[in-house]
Amino acid sequence: MSNRQGCFITLEGTEGVGKSTNLAYIESLLAEAGVSFALTREPGGTPLAEELREMLLAPREEAVADDAELLMVFAARAQHLQKVIKPALEAGQWVLCDRFTDATFAYQGGGRGLDQSLILDLEQRVQKGLQPDLTLLLDVPVEIGLARAAKRGALDRFEQEQVSFFERVRGAYLQRAEDHPERFAVIDASVSLEDVQVQIQAVMAAFLARQKTV
Ligand SMILES: Nc1ncnc2c1ncn2[C@@H]1O[C@H](COP(=O)(O)OP(=O)(O)OP(=O)(O)O)[C@@H](O)[C@H]1O
Ligand SMILES: [Mg+2]
Repeated sequence: MSNRQGCFITLEGTEGVGKSTNLAYIESLLAEAGVSFALTREPGGTPLAEELREMLLAPREEAVADDAELLMVFAARAQHLQKVIKPALEAGQWVLCDRFTDATFAYQGGGRGLDQSLILDLEQRVQKGLQPDLTLLLDVPVEIGLARAAKRGALDRFEQEQVSFFERVRGAYLQRAEDHPERFAVIDASVSLEDVQVQIQAVMAAFLARQKTV
C-alpha cells in the first residue's frame, strides 16, 4: 500500500439510483467541512480512461467478450489510479469517486457471471491493497432505478441489459456490503431525494467525526 493520507470515498449502485445527483450533495458536505478533495469517476477519470469508458458504454453490433470487458475496466482503473487517485491521496487530498471496483464485482461478477477469483487477482495486481475508506451503496429496487435512468434518454450498452442482469448486479452489490461492513454504508435510495440526503448526511457526519479522532 502507498503512503496515503487522504480518504477515499466511493459511491456505488445500479443505473439511475442517484449516484451523480448525490455526489454533488456529498461534495457540498465536504466543502462545508473544509476538506480538500478531487472528484472523479469510473470507468474514466483521465483522458485515456475516458476513451476506454466510451468504448465500454457504446452500444455496438459486435458482442463484447466478458473477459475483454473486464480487462478494459481494469485497464482504465490502472491508469486512473496511477494518474489521479494515488497522487491525490498521497498529497493529502480526499478522493470522491463515482463507482470503483465494487462495480466490477457487481457488473462483471454478478451481472456477467465472471469468476470472483479472476476479479480478485486483477484487483490485487492493480490496487495492491488500496481500498476505499467509505463506500456509499445507493440501493433501490431495479425497476425504479431503470425508470429513472430511462428518463434521461438514449440507453448505453449496460442500460440495454435485461432486468434479470440488474437483479444480479444489485444482489452482488448487497453481498459486497455484507462482506465489507467496515467500509460500506447502504442507503435506501428509493425514497425522496430529500430523505436520501438525510441518510447520507448522517453517514458523512459520522465518517468525518471518526477522521478527526484518528
Ligand atoms: N431519490 C430520488 N427520487 C426521485 N428521483 C431521483 C432521486 N435521486 C435521483 N433522481 C433522479 O433520477 C435520475 C437519475 O439520477 P442520477 O443520474 O443521479 O443516477 P446515477 O446513479 O448517476 O445513474 P447512472 O448509473 O446511470 O450514472 C435523475 O433524473 C435524478 O434527478
Ligand atoms: Mg451517474
